[in-house]
Amino acid sequence: MTAPNLEVELCGIKFRNPILTASGTFGYGEEFNNYIDLSCLGGIVTKSITREPRPGHPPPRTYETTGGMINAIGLANVGVDRFVSEKIPFLKTLDTRIIVNVAGFSIEEYRYCVERLNDAEAIDMLEINISCPNVGAGGLEFSSTEKGAFAITSELKKISRYPLMIKLSPNVTDISAIARAAEEGGADCLSLINTLVGMGVNHWTFKPILTNITGGLSGPAIKPVALAKVWQVHNAVKIPLVGIGGALDHFDVAEFMIVGASLVQFGTANFINPDCTVKASEGLVDYLDKSGIDDISQLIGKLGGNNEVQGKNFPACEGT
Ligand SMILES: Cc1cc2nc3c(=O)[nH]c(=O)nc-3n(C[C@H](O)[C@H](O)[C@H](O)COP(=O)(O)O)c2cc1C
Repeated sequence: MTAPNLEVELCGIKFRNPILTASGTFGYGEEFNNYIDLSCLGGIVTKSITREPRPGHPPPRTYETTGGMINAIGLANVGVDRFVSEKIPFLKTLDTRIIVNVAGFSIEEYRYCVERLNDAEAIDMLEINISCPNVGAGGLEFSSTEKGAFAITSELKKISRYPLMIKLSPNVTDISAIARAAEEGGADCLSLINTLVGMGVNHWTFKPILTNITGGLSGPAIKPVALAKVWQVHNAVKIPLVGIGGALDHFDVAEFMIVGASLVQFGTANFINPDCTVKASEGLVDYLDKSGIDDISQLIGKLGGNNEVQGKNFPACEGT
């Protein structure tokens, strides 16, 4: 029996498998090089890069909570110039797709970063973070209004030599409207979701746990929200989607794909188990074999009705 095909094409780019690492949870790739074989990944999404280097918020800036974590890192990063001179040389040596995540506080800042990255090598795609909830004014403004999402996407589309993946926030009233605005602005694909606004409180001291008071909730606790948002947006736009939020294993990848994602990013899971992505890609082979599916792309957007059996071998897998 031949092994099922895990390759997925997105925006004309072939990914070895649908598993990516999520921005901010995998550094610049090098940090995980001693733990896993990076060529087993579909791709790496790097930490958000801004025009200037940023130290981020003072600690404590992460907090473990039931089913996940809350972070308010504050976009700590080396800045785009050091990213190009210090991080690209390592990324260039890797046999996997590289997606560079860009953040900013004004259209000019995003534009500066995109222009600087246009001259760099080894990059396959840009993920535009318009959804960071932890930095006061700035990124989130672009994802909370249709006008903002359209403006940033259409401006960057004019200058980027790479396909653009626009990363959406769940902290809005109607994510479908924002998704459509980004699509109209020329987004090549969308990724969702970024973290949900949350907070932790110390009940003895009456003080907030994070210096920033609020932060972004991620991890398994948000997976049901993320699945629902991906499904909603899948029904609202024509461009491909990348699912993010609480993925821990191959079953989670399958679920995100079934509701409409072409690729899936793993974030918080990397902190729990650094080789979760490699294990998930191995698990996908077994899952597809058991389901009688020979090409993983067949899962994309295949959500059925309540009582409909989709996987050919579904009854045999029950309970596995
Ligand atoms: C510690 C931490 C730092 C993050 N930093 C970024 C970032 O710099 N840029 C970004 O777009 N998303 C960032 N995120 C959000 C993740 O990329 C992802 O959207 C979110 O965590 C949900 O996925 P998960 O539940 O698999 O972690 C960060 C998340 C965590 C936990």
